[in-house]
Amino acid sequence: MAKKILIMVASPKNERSGTLIPTKAFVEGMLENGDYEAEYVFIDRLNIKPCRGCLTCWGRPDGSCFIKGDDVPATRKKLEEADVVIWSFPLFLFSIPGQMKVLMDRIVGMVHPYMGQKLNGENSTPDMNKPMHGLQHQKPGQKIILLSSCAWMDIDVVYEPIMKQFDIILGKGKYYMIACPQMRALHHRGGERRLNMLRKRYAAGGAELAKTGDISKEAIDLMQKPIFGDDAYVTLVTEFVTHMFDRDDNF
Ligand SMILES: Cc1cc2nc3c(=O)[nH]c(=O)nc-3n(C[C@H](O)[C@H](O)[C@H](O)COP(=O)(O)O)c2cc1C
Repeated sequence: MAKKILIMVASPKNERSGTLIPTKAFVEGMLENGDYEAEYVFIDRLNIKPCRGCLTCWGRPDGSCFIKGDDVPATRKKLEEADVVIWSFPLFLFSIPGQMKVLMDRIVGMVHPYMGQKLNGENSTPDMNKPMHGLQHQKPGQKIILLSSCAWMDIDVVYEPIMKQFDIILGKGKYYMIACPQMRALHHRGGERRLNMLRKRYAAGGAELAKTGDISKEAIDLMQKPIFGDDAYVTLVTEFVTHMFDRDDNF
């Protein structure tokens, strides 16, 4: 039976998301090199009521939420059953987009409850090699990938908050972080040649995961490598921002 790739699209632009360009290439690379099927879920289109903060989910064996009348129960089932989950999202103020956070809060019951454990102390999780939480409802062997695009080039700095957050939630090494810089300018001003260069790198990353079950540091480095040189990028971004208002491809 084909393995399932679930792509959680968190850009409010839905199909017009720039992040979808590398995401789709990565998924195609997987589909062409292994027995996989893919499903795209557009978070912006889901009916997701916000978490009420009761934490009763942690008291239920299946970690389920008491709110049943929206799209979260079905989405959570998909998240549990997928072999590969790709969260495809733009970086918003050095964090995840709001709707993705609203969904994540609602599925907090998927992680182990907090029972007073300390990062440094008895039952500690030194250096965050072990998660503070960790998933308790997850298909064995499931891979989680955070595939995000942003404007900035200093990806080590701008993705630090997100990596810290997911290191604590899932555990270091329990997910892949792939960051795609310069995406907005690439999307609108990159041209087909540059976009195809980007697609090729991401397809190779997806192919590697399908073939080996892992993504090497070299493949991640290549996917994350900026396409524009520094000077060209500054010129492009300056032009882009200055003419933001009179552009019809903006919305
Ligand atoms: C509200 C908002 C906040 C943003 N914050 C950041 C940021 O903190 N760092 C960054 O590099 N880019 C930031 N960006 C740029 C987006 O991450 C970037 O344009 C991304 O490629 C958009 O992806 P999408 O087309 O898939 O939505 C921000 C964009 C918006 C609209």
